[in-house]
Amino acid sequence: MSVIKSITALNKTKPWDSHNQLLECVMVRQDSHNVKTFVFHTSDNSWFVYLPGQFITLELNIDGKTVHRTYTLSSSPSRPLCISITVKANQDGYVSKWLHENMKEGDKVKAYGPAGIFSFHNHLSDKYLFLAGGVGITPLMSMARWMFDYGTESDVVFIQCNQTPSDNLFTRELESMSARTPEMKVALVCERADEYGAWTGYTGRINQLMLELIAPDYMEREIFCCGPEPYMQAVRDILNTAGFDMDRYHEESFTSPVETEADIPDHDDVIIDETNKSQVAFINSGKTVKVSESETILAAAKEAGIHIPNACQFGVCGTCKVKKTSGDVHMVHNGGINDEDVEAGYILACCSNPLGEVEIEY
Ligand code: FES
Repeated sequence: MSVIKSITALNKTKPWDSHNQLLECVMVRQDSHNVKTFVFHTSDNSWFVYLPGQFITLELNIDGKTVHRTYTLSSSPSRPLCISITVKANQDGYVSKWLHENMKEGDKVKAYGPAGIFSFHNHLSDKYLFLAGGVGITPLMSMARWMFDYGTESDVVFIQCNQTPSDNLFTRELESMSARTPEMKVALVCERADEYGAWTGYTGRINQLMLELIAPDYMEREIFCCGPEPYMQAVRDILNTAGFDMDRYHEESFTSPVETEADIPDHDDVIIDETNKSQVAFINSGKTVKVSESETILAAAKEAGIHIPNACQFGVCGTCKVKKTSGDVHMVHNGGINDEDVEAGYILACCSNPLGEVEIEY
């Protein structure tokens, strides 16, 4: 355990100079079964200045090789005496596993930064929606901590999504902030409950229906999203389908945070365009219809005089499941179909838009 060796007033010290000062690990906290937070100081009590949501790059020597890895800061610059990174020990994450197994109090490490443009400071708004997938919560936690410390009544809805409740991070801190700041609302979404644990949050993957329930005014919010790419893709699909103004959507991949606007990757997202024409062939019925891409397979079937059983018409109940035998559709469902069925070629007719020529076994 590290002990306090000296105390210097903040105005008597200088900010961290990453070119000339090493970071010293002063605390390692176990946040969940596979996530640890590493807290760093400098040896002469420098303070840290950055925007909440930024990242640092660690330079590590592992097995005689120099490796660099970026980690978003989970700490907030409103608490400038230390910085922290929160790291998940991925099975195939060479550096993250090394950190978990080797980084300890007293270790010194070279680091660069902080850097990055993913911060609500760059997109001020009256209302925010934070969407965190897994350990992608770190920059969003930094922002939430900053908002809480700053003492304003920030209207933020914070949605944390994980596979199971035992993967959730900072839950008590988030709930405590939310309890003391009515403008901050927190929702937890897990794909499934733990085997022997009660679960009272939302179950499944984030979808439009959940979003509507948790943040009915999400269309008015500035959105910040961080997580693995499939998670962010699912969020973008929901927002694109809802017609959200994507200039107000900001994302960060926790594996490759970006430093400048020019580094933001171009997404090849499907944006449904009603001027695009498609053709849907219903093989068993022997009928083919030409439709706009903005119509669903269910609507195309109706136009062809074919009845596909349906109920919710919102991608929830699974009643309209049909098999696609060729072509592509863009499906944004609300949990009514599982990965195995999608893998086997099934789609939900009510929330799938045809892209080009599509054949349906019906
Ligand atoms: S009608 Fe319910 S999922 Fe399509």
